[in-house]
Order: sequence, then structure tokens, then C-alpha cells
Amino acid sequence: MTTSTQLTPVKWEGDALILLDQTKLPVETIYLELTTSEEVWASIRHLQVRGAPAIGMAAAYGLYLGIRNSEATTFEAFWSDVSKQAEYLGSSRPTAVNLFWAIDRIKARVQQDADKSVAELKAAVLDEALAIQKEDAEVCRTIGEHLLTLLEDGMGILTHCNPGALATAAYGTATAPLYLAKERGWDLKVYADETRPVLQGARLTAFELQQAGIDVTLICDNMAAMVMSQGKVQAVIVGTDRVAANGDVANKIGTYGVAVLAKAHGIPFYVAAPLSSIDMETPTGADIPIEERPGEEITHGLGKQVAPDDIKVYNPAFDVTPAPYITAIVTETGIYKPEEIGKSKS
Ligand code: MRU
Repeated sequence: MTTSTQLTPVKWEGDALILLDQTKLPVETIYLELTTSEEVWASIRHLQVRGAPAIGMAAAYGLYLGIRNSEATTFEAFWSDVSKQAEYLGSSRPTAVNLFWAIDRIKARVQQDADKSVAELKAAVLDEALAIQKEDAEVCRTIGEHLLTLLEDGMGILTHCNPGALATAAYGTATAPLYLAKERGWDLKVYADETRPVLQGARLTAFELQQAGIDVTLICDNMAAMVMSQGKVQAVIVGTDRVAANGDVANKIGTYGVAVLAKAHGIPFYVAAPLSSIDMETPTGADIPIEERPGEEITHGLGKQVAPDDIKVYNPAFDVTPAPYITAIVTETGIYKPEEIGKSKS
């Protein structure tokens, strides 16, 4: 049976957060054992855990690690500790709204249990983090079911970055229909963009789909136009780090270019988005904070220097695909036109 659950990027075990170090894949499988919120902050910042839903899950556990030794004896003092940890973990990466969604959910749970003892509140924080992870697997599977209704056996599917099992509790978002199609005996042909500069497509998507026995072909980012023009792609499916209220979508740098290419070739462009990625507080894509990462990811990205010393580098980690390029956004509640994404939450 095909299962994406063999790859578990985030696990709570005993008293510690266990993370699969994604910077080492696909060559080494190394699990990190984290016991402090500082370690969780660093693992998010340095992409050892990455992908919007996985970042949210890690931050939720990080918040628990940050307050579990709190010496507060009153709700007010405990709330102050929770708020400080929330702000700290929220500073790890700016673009994926799932990070802030998960932190806010933990804060809401603490407020809801305000009449409980500090010991009970600490237990409630861990309980909420575990619930976030459990629900994410179900959410991803449901997104996959909806997306599958838009696909047919035999299609070629192009994806960008890693919106996969490695980015979620299970199945991935954009990869969920690929796992479900495999379970049903369909033969989809997947093209994975390598995804410069950090190569999430080559290192992670190609790896996890190959492990699952899915027909996956790795291409360089600059080959997508050629592959589309050859009629090899019938749908593009990508994930997202944040959907703005007007249906603009932030995702890994290069996604916008893929969307333009898909439109030019008349290929539908679908975005898989859990409700935790939809940010109705952010009016348009222009309002989404875009992370800029160190230039070394480009100048030394493949482990050796590939650019001149002291070259100026611009390295935005995400771009925004404007709503008109998007055929549909698929959430756990259904399939929406981008401009109607607000309905997904009602
Ligand atoms: O920088 P990353 O690897 O965290 O970026 C991840 C992406 O852009 C994914 O496509 C996105 O988070 C969707 S994950 C289901």
C-alpha cells in the first residue's frame, strides 16, 4: 500500500520534539531531538523543518517546550510566559501564516482554560499541539480527495517545491491526490521542479514520491516551459504558505513563473491550501511579508562556490501568484475560485 506516513517530519516522543532533519535529505536520514524552544526556533529558521503546516506544528510543540518549565503560579504570570514564547517563535520565519495560526490556536486554548491551574494549562498546551498535528493529516487527506475529482488517470502533473508529506503531518497538500491516486491504481506522471535555490523539489519531493513508488521525473526549473509545450502536463498543483483575502497566493519562489507558463499553455493551475494557510486579515498578495534568505543559498547552494566573491545577491524565498493565474484553490472544505476564497472559511 502507498503511504506517505512513513516520512514523519515532526513527532512528539516522550518528552521531546523529534524532527527529521530535512537539510540532510535525501542522502542522510537524521532525526533531531529538541528539548528547548530555542532549538525549535533555530530548526525552523535553518529549514531543518520546513513547509507551512510542518512549521506550524513544530512551533506549537516549541511553545510547549518554552513554557513547560515556567515557574508561574498565577494565570497572569503564565500568560505572560506564553505570550513571550509566542512572540519569540513567531520571529523564526515570516511568510507561512500556519506558524502564526498554530501559535494563536495555542494562545486561544490557554485563554479558554483560564480558570485551570498552571499545571493543567501546561498540559493543555501540549494537548493542543498534538491536536494540531492529528488534524493536519485528516485535512491533507480531504484536500487530496477534492483535488482528485479534478484529475484523471494517465495525466501528467507538475509540482513545485515540496508540498508533500515532509511538509505536513501526512500526505502533503498538493501531493495528497498523488498518494490517493496511487492507492487507487491510477498512473499519474509527476514532474517535480528542482526548485532553486534550496532544491526542495529535487531533495524532498522527488525523494518522497520515489519512495512511495509514484512515477516522478525531476526537471530543472527552467525546463517547465519545454515540458508543458510538449504536452506532458495536464495540471499544475502547488502548495502555499499564505493565501490573501483576494485569492493571491504566496508560495516558494518560482511558483509565479510556473503559473504564468501554465496560463500560456492553457493548463489548469491548482493551489492546495489547508484553511490554516488562508489569511483573511491580509487583503492582497502585496501585503504578505516575503522572507529574504542569505545570499549563500545561491552563491554556495550546491555545497561549492558557484558565483564570484562578494557578488550582490537578491534571494526572496517566496513569490506571489496573482489570483487571475489560479484556476482553483482547494481546501478541506471544497474547491473555490480564488476570488471566492473567503467562502472556504464560512
Ligand atoms: O521554504 P520552505 O521549504 O518552507 O517553503 C515551502 C513551500 O513553499 C511549500 O510549497 C509550502 O509551504 C506548501 S507546504 C504544504
